[in-house]
Amino acid sequence: MRVASPWPPARSLRPSSAVRLLSSTTASYNNFYRNRQLERYAARETRRLSLRQLVFFGRSMNEERLIKSANYVRTELPVRIAHRIRDLQALPYVVVTQPDVAKVYELYWTAFEKRGFVKSLYLIRRYPQINTTSDNEKFCNFLGSLLSEHSGVIPALSLGLSLSSPHLPPDQLDSFMRRMLVTRISRRVLVDHHVALSRAVAKHGAVDSHQRIGIIYPNLDVKACIMQSVKHLKARPLAPLDITGIDSGDIPWPDVVIDGHVDTTFAYIKEHFDYMVFELLKNSMRFTRMFASRHRPNEPLPPIRATIVAGPDDIHLRISDNGGGITTPKVSSPEDLYSFSHVRNRSRLEGERLGALRDVSSSGRGMTATFAEQLADITPAGVSKPDKIGRIGLGLPMSNIYATYFGGSLDLMSLDGWGTDVYLRLPKLGTNLEGIDI
Ligand code: COI
Repeated sequence: MRVASPWPPARSLRPSSAVRLLSSTTASYNNFYRNRQLERYAARETRRLSLRQLVFFGRSMNEERLIKSANYVRTELPVRIAHRIRDLQALPYVVVTQPDVAKVYELYWTAFEKRGFVKSLYLIRRYPQINTTSDNEKFCNFLGSLLSEHSGVIPALSLGLSLSSPHLPPDQLDSFMRRMLVTRISRRVLVDHHVALSRAVAKHGAVDSHQRIGIIYPNLDVKACIMQSVKHLKARPLAPLDITGIDSGDIPWPDVVIDGHVDTTFAYIKEHFDYMVFELLKNSMRFTRMFASRHRPNEPLPPIRATIVAGPDDIHLRISDNGGGITTPKVSSPEDLYSFSHVRNRSRLEGERLGALRDVSSSGRGMTATFAEQLADITPAGVSKPDKIGRIGLGLPMSNIYATYFGGSLDLMSLDGWGTDVYLRLPKLGTNLEGIDI
């Protein structure tokens, strides 16, 4: 027996209806569907990279290689952006016209048509070949402006897709979001890496391949990163626990005990690793405080345990807490916490969550994985703006995206009524390609 689907058919926008629809919003849309350029670029294949390729290429940087890198970014970026515009166009009419989704759509369209000031005006896709370091310097400034214009993409997209959740089947919504988020990381990695290499060459004439190659730290010290996150987390004001009758100011931050292969180092993008560690520890600390205040109010807080294991191919980090486990009725399995669909994760359509996302999105502060920015801008009860921003629910899904980006994984194990074990696995050898068709 066929059961009628509760979801509207996932129709793509036809050019004619899309033009009618969008012409009322912005003039720039008018030409959009007629634009053969987009089709040309979207038809090209993107070239996926591995961490190892980024390291090898950046290790022996000189002017000639830098120019090659600049031209690679110059030609690759418009292709990658064109693919995403096509993805957005394939969303159902009601979703792509949702104002926050439309905002992102317009941003990518603007990026595809972005003008650079080099001698005269150029669109990014017609950006002239880069031949000298001085050309490259201008190109890096141009890229910098693109990066900052796009800093608000994640909150806008999360808000827009949460609000569109009733119109998309969960699988379609989650795979769209995953593609958007992974590919955004990939574009930013490409650009950030090139800009960082350019800065190093401009400043020192070369790259110090022991310290840092572009955005990759060849000897990233796992324990030091964990300690840095703990330090920053503990420096934050104690967030209220929303438990009536309990003064949360009396409940301190739990300690974190680090054990296992504590001398482990590996090659990774520090910003990505810091983001994951920070978010995972933040959750553990919050739930440990909450659980202890309810069930063991007069006992010292149980410490969180972070165990590092360096396997032959992978680095493992297990974070174990006594925070009561994942017992929320809003999800039926821990992995559903990664979902952006309200069907899998009921908190996605809660007013408080949407309000917090709206605050972040409209503040223009955006969201990046930069550690300092995280602390200052989007962290709930963050250092500079305590308690202004509620919980936006992006820490776990984004950590999952970062973990899987280069072929790792993030698994959650709930011991209901006791605590949660989080397992983060990251490939050590860096040979995996970016984990999606970008
Ligand atoms: C983004 O941040 O969303 C991007 O696509 C970055 C890219 C335009 C450089």
